[in-house]
Formats: sequence, structure tokens, C-alpha cells
Amino acid sequence: MADVHVLNHPLIQHKLSLIRDERTGSKEFRELVEEVAMLMAYEVTRDFALQEIEVKTPVAFAKSKVLVGRKVGLVPILRAGLGMVDGMLRLIPAAKVGHVGLYRDPETLLPVEYYCKLPSDIAERDLIVIDPMLATGGSASAAIMFLKDRGAKNIKLMCLIAAPEGVLAVQNAHPDVDIFVAAVDERLNEHGYIVPGLGDAGDRLFGTK
Ligand code: PRP
Ligand code: URA
Repeated sequence: MADVHVLNHPLIQHKLSLIRDERTGSKEFRELVEEVAMLMAYEVTRDFALQEIEVKTPVAFAKSKVLVGRKVGLVPILRAGLGMVDGMLRLIPAAKVGHVGLYRDPETLLPVEYYCKLPSDIAERDLIVIDPMLATGGSASAAIMFLKDRGAKNIKLMCLIAAPEGVLAVQNAHPDVDIFVAAVDERLNEHGYIVPGLGDAGDRLFGTK
């Protein structure tokens, strides 16, 4: 079974409280989501391998460390996942970005695919699927399946807020995919929204209804 990492860093938790607040408008919401994504990227990349090199400082030679040439791919689930991309790219600027377009049918709550464009070499990349919300887990599970169907082997999932139901669904469908979240909330309501959650992430990011 995959691990679920709840990222309890005080800065992440503080900013998440502001994101949840219904009084936070789109501009501030977007900025905060980007900032939290950047802070979460720090934790999600914690297992990246290092190799030792020697650097000549103005004073002496130093044994120092750099990342082993790993190729990273970020895969936001459209639309709301887009809000997390720039924050992550600030820490992982060489990452390629693929896009999976999915929306959740409001009646069935099942994901419907409408777009998919991925780097050609996803089989060799460490992929991080990003989406602010993990509700039923249908969208994330489907996105991860697309990636696996196209050869991806090394996948992580990063979300701001998850419902316990979504965590379980992804763990069952993809036991090899570790999940990174800032919070696991209480439950889903009858419309498939996370309680207490933050409302509709896409609408709050982009000012739609
Ligand atoms: C939201 C969210 C996730 C999905 C989560 O997207 O960003 O992709 O719902 O729900 P699930 O876990 O039950 O699948 P939505 O379908 O509202 O599309 P949007 O990003 O275009 O607003
Ligand atoms: N999608 C959202 O944007 N919010 C939820 O609470 C659930 C799904």
C-alpha cells in the first residue's frame, strides 16, 4: 500500500487556512495556492538522489552535493491543477509539464477526459501528478491510469486537500503511488465536495461559477 504523507510544515498549514477561508478572493487564492505548491514541492522531492562533486570556492575546494540527473515531469489535472504548476516550477525549473484534462460529471461524479498532452519520454521521468482536490479519487486515479498506459513507472500524487474516500480509492487503484497532501479532511458531502475543504478549487482560482 502506498504511503500518505500529510505535510504539517507550519507555513503550509498557515497558508492552507487562508486558502480555505471563503473571504479569500481569487487573486490571493491563486498566490497562496502557488506558494503552498512550492513549499510542498520541497517535501515531495525529499527522496531525490544526490551525488558528491567537488566545487572550488574562493577559499578552498569543497566536497558538495548536486542532484543526480533525474528527469522530472509535472502533470497538472486541468483545470485546477494549473494553479500549482508555477510554484513547483520555481523549485524544479527543468521539469517538463504534461497536461491531463478531466472534469467531473456533476451527476455521476465520474471523470470525463477531454485533453491529454504529455512529454514523449514519460517512461523515464519521475512524474508528479498535481491537483488541489482529491475528493472521490476518480480524477486522480484516471489521470494516473493514463500515465501508466503510456509507460509511466514512477508516479507521485500531490494535492492540497484530500477526503479519506479519495485517499483510499487511489491507494486501492494505485498501491505504488505515494500521496502527498497538506490535509486529510472529514468526508465528502452528497455532492462529492470535501467537507470542510475549500469549495470548488477551479472556480476559486479562475473566478468562475
Ligand atoms: C475538481 C478537482 C479534481 C476533481 C476532484 O476538478 O480539481 O480534479 O474535481 O474530484 P474527484 O476526486 O471526485 O475526481 P473539476 O472536475 O471540478 O474540474 P475543474 O478543475 O475544471 O474545475
Ligand atoms: N472538486 C473541488 O474543487 N472541490 C471539492 O471539494 C471536490 C471536488
